[in-house]
Amino acid sequence: MRPTYPVTELLGDGIGPELSRAVHTLAEALPIQLEFRQVDFSLENRRANKKTIYDEAVESIEQTKVALKHPTATVEESPNQVLRRRLDLSVIHRPVYTIPGVPTNFRRDLDVDIVRIATGGTYDDPGRMIGEDGAVSLRIVERRPVREAARYAFSLARKTNKRVTTASKYTIQKATDGLFESVAKEVAGQFPEVPHNAELFDALLGKIIMAPEKFEIVLVLNEYGDFLSDMACGLAGSLGIGASANLAFDASAVVRVALYDAAHGTAPDIAGKGLANPTAIFLAVSMMLYQLGEISVGQAVKNATLDLLRQGVRTRDLGGQESTDSFTAAVAAEVGRRLESSSH
Ligand code: NAI
Repeated sequence: MRPTYPVTELLGDGIGPELSRAVHTLAEALPIQLEFRQVDFSLENRRANKKTIYDEAVESIEQTKVALKHPTATVEESPNQVLRRRLDLSVIHRPVYTIPGVPTNFRRDLDVDIVRIATGGTYDDPGRMIGEDGAVSLRIVERRPVREAARYAFSLARKTNKRVTTASKYTIQKATDGLFESVAKEVAGQFPEVPHNAELFDALLGKIIMAPEKFEIVLVLNEYGDFLSDMACGLAGSLGIGASANLAFDASAVVRVALYDAAHGTAPDIAGKGLANPTAIFLAVSMMLYQLGEISVGQAVKNATLDLLRQGVRTRDLGGQESTDSFTAAVAAEVGRRLESSSH
């Protein structure tokens, strides 16, 4: 019997259905069973079932604990924002790395895990005018999400033998960033074997560009994470093929639910044409497999996908000739081959 894991799959718009088919083909090649419970998150269905669709999704995700989300059109509401709020997804983990074969202006290799606190910072308060000539806004830092993100970052570092760098402006934003650094330091004390250093955020941006190999896991507050993710993706040249984990935690800061998605959108210009690149959603599946404890299967999915790209097996957006289906078939076959040979 193959080990079985229930997974909520949120179906999306545009290239979403093609990506869902690709994921199912890949799943067939795995030595485990992903039992997909689908919730139709297409715009049409969200409109038709406004009152119940989010309850249905949240209920299913609370049961399965892990979810895979396909891109959805943001028209009336942002499904991502609603889900973040409803599920208390307070941390975003975004691995960013240069991918062989993906063109970039950056000449170095980058491989960094950004762990970002997804709430607070300057993003929860739109601010207000003071008279005509001034404006203020609140910057909010709370212990709980910082502790959750820090525990996640340090556990990841322990598992992968990596270093954690915290980055903020603690010299200037003494209360907010000072609290962030002090909570991170407290958590660091529980992981004495994990190397940890703190950088000023502006210095970090320069240093990542000059010496990317020094940065493995970077833990940051909300807006810094936002800026850093886009800069890192730009360096990697791969804005469209990244994936993230959106995480919610229980009272002891252990992951309670995790929602995985691709960073790109619904790509309406190529929908239904067999041109969609499933790399990002495969990398999201790989992260989900790690979370399920299926480390070697997750590694096989990631490495097979990246090795095929390196060998020139690529969809058209990356200058190759493959269709969604032929690229998917190649990845599925390669994953099967790798897992077969590692089990002998
Ligand atoms: P987009 O990422 O959908 O497309 C930008 C460009 O990248 C397009 O030329 C598209 O063809 C290409 N592209 C994107 N993903 C691709 C893939 N997997 N394979 C090959 N080419 C790909 O961004 P855009 O056009 O700004 O947004 C379109 C829709 O997607 C909007 O309704 C937006 O709200 C939604 N969106 C949803 C997200 C989500 O659900 N996580 C994230 C970003 C946008």
